[in-house]
Amino acid sequence: MSGRHHHLFFFFLSNAVVSDIRRIITGDTRVMALKPLAPYIPTPLVPSLHASYQNPKPKQAERERMESLDETEATLRGQEHIWKLIHAYADSMALKCAVELRLPDIIHSYGGGPVTLAQIASRIPSPSPGTAYLARIMRLLVRKNIFCANRCQADGGHEGTEILYSLTPSSRWLLQGPGSELSLTPLVLMATHPWMMSPWHCLGDCVRTGDVAFEMAHGHKIWDFASENPEFNRLFNDGMACLSGILVRGIVEVYKDGFKSIGSLVDVGGGVGRTLVEIIKSFPHIQGINFDLPHVIAIAPNHDGVSHVGGDMFETIPQADAIFMKAIMHDWGDEDCIKILKNCRKAIPEKNGKVIIADMVLKPEGNGMFDETGLVLDLVMLVHCSGGKERDELEWKKILEEGGFPRYNIIKTLSLLSIIEAYPM
Ligand SMILES: C[S@@+](CC[C@H](N)C(=O)[O-])C[C@H]1O[C@@H](n2cnc3c(N)ncnc32)[C@H](O)[C@@H]1O
Repeated sequence: MSGRHHHLFFFFLSNAVVSDIRRIITGDTRVMALKPLAPYIPTPLVPSLHASYQNPKPKQAERERMESLDETEATLRGQEHIWKLIHAYADSMALKCAVELRLPDIIHSYGGGPVTLAQIASRIPSPSPGTAYLARIMRLLVRKNIFCANRCQADGGHEGTEILYSLTPSSRWLLQGPGSELSLTPLVLMATHPWMMSPWHCLGDCVRTGDVAFEMAHGHKIWDFASENPEFNRLFNDGMACLSGILVRGIVEVYKDGFKSIGSLVDVGGGVGRTLVEIIKSFPHIQGINFDLPHVIAIAPNHDGVSHVGGDMFETIPQADAIFMKAIMHDWGDEDCIKILKNCRKAIPEKNGKVIIADMVLKPEGNGMFDETGLVLDLVMLVHCSGGKERDELEWKKILEEGGFPRYNIIKTLSLLSIIEAYPM
């Protein structure tokens, strides 16, 4: 390499890299941190770097070499991690797209697969679906285990191989047609809707101002927004109802004895009544009262064994043997929870009444299946609700005691929810 070429080569590199390359030329062993740069550095400039791959090193130098390699690897991994986080929304959006195009249902209609891309595309209601786009979306969804893919010899005289797609245990939660009793699709559509996502852009401002992101984005508290926007009301309540259909089965399973002794049960903030329907399926002797804000009760379908009552839990709660509350307390700050609990206490018999709370018990350091989801849901509450948060056991104990429930048991379910059974005495 001529002197001029040297000059040009160094011109394109930062000062730090230039000085590291000088060390390479002079045989400094620390240059091994530059291993990833080796392919971009002209061989005549890096005799020591290239030689270092072949020649055995003295122990100390070898250790230094390994340390700097570790450092390089860690730095690269750090960068890779940030790339993933920057684009984590792409996973949610690809999932939403799969639901909107009903890709799981299409594959299910072929018996769950294996099925070709052309077969999937042929059932997308469009005169000319973009199969090249679809292939790329499927490739990411396969990578994320939403679908699985296998290569096989192409049919019909085509050369090469073709990809065949099938459902996975994850995609089975995304069915909307037959076989979809346990579907999370309404929740996917609710959680990924721009109404729910735009408040996330205000998260930093929440910290700066103490305001609530949902109100910053939409000018209303979430429950007022629902009462004024029938489409959002429907979207939100459908999302919650599908979750009830799934989670309440797990609750009923582990809390059989707890429900047996109850004659009447109010579901406070019960949405459109899906939770009570599931409970009453297993315990038909229970008289169910579904209690929620009037705009929610207005769209609640009739169910045998369930009466609907509209009202405000901060004012008064209908009387019953016991009160059920699923995903209510995590919507509110401590003071509001204490007010709700005090109203619950007035609504149940002093002696053997109880409140059954189905919510998360946060384990911030835990490695359980849903422990990380708990931290994410905590931020969902921060973004969408005024004062909402997930709580660890100590935080639960505090609000229960102050709300008039000094005695409680925590019962884990198979889902992310626990049952917190609380007694007034
Ligand atoms: C997160 S959702 C939970 C719905 C249902 N419990 C479930 O798990 O599917 C919270 C519910 O609380 C209701 N809610 C909010 N404020 C209320 C109030 N002041 N009185 C009664 N219900 C209220 C909402 O309308 C909504 O249905």
